[in-house]
Amino acid sequence: MNLESILFTQGFGSRRQCRALIADGRVTIDGALHADPDAEVPTEALNFAVDGITWPYREHAYLLLNKPAGYECSREPQHHLSVFNLLPPQFAARGVQCVGRLDQDTTGLLLLSDDGKFVHAFTSPKRKVPKVYVATTRHPLDDAQLGALREGVLLHGEPKPIAAVAAQARSEHALELTVLEGKYHQVKRMVAAAGNRVEALHRERIGGLSLPATLAEGAWQWLDETDLGSLRSG
Ligand code: URA
Repeated sequence: MNLESILFTQGFGSRRQCRALIADGRVTIDGALHADPDAEVPTEALNFAVDGITWPYREHAYLLLNKPAGYECSREPQHHLSVFNLLPPQFAARGVQCVGRLDQDTTGLLLLSDDGKFVHAFTSPKRKVPKVYVATTRHPLDDAQLGALREGVLLHGEPKPIAAVAAQARSEHALELTVLEGKYHQVKRMVAAAGNRVEALHRERIGGLSLPATLAEGAWQWLDETDLGSLRSG
């Protein structure tokens, strides 16, 4: 692929802007200056640098963000900042979107990608991917609430009760809940229907992929093949 197309596909602006970046001597590969936008460059295992910042070439971007509270999963947020404020602008430019949404006040594991099939597969109601949340509850948890969550609670607008795959108390006010669906405010509504109230919500896991303990709040990382495998294996 020529260097202009490489930068273009990776979100570095219009073709004209990418040509200018290259011609202005701002692009290096393995430390060597590459100033010809038409030069053919093999993309396999390619790392290139723009203004000294190194990027891997990826046909598709698969990302994980440790979402903080106070960010909306939208490029055009209504009342808060956008999660895209936490990512380099190249990702929005190449069409990266959230794989399902977390509420602005929910924290934890958020996936993002520009691979439409991947986004569809992981947001489709038909694909039942387990998602593990930890909810801090206003009132102490009890067996009746846990039982109701496991057996199923009726949510407004839903034709039949929705059951958690697993519901257990980690402490008096910390509920671990695994659900298969991704309905609007699902965990908050389920907990309310079971007679309690969510004060804070954190997503720990999707499929077999857990939020890495070492990833700081607000930080992101690329997903590699192993991560994608874990995601599907859950
Ligand atoms: N359930 C909710 O209520 N909110 C989220 O952000 C995710 C799941």
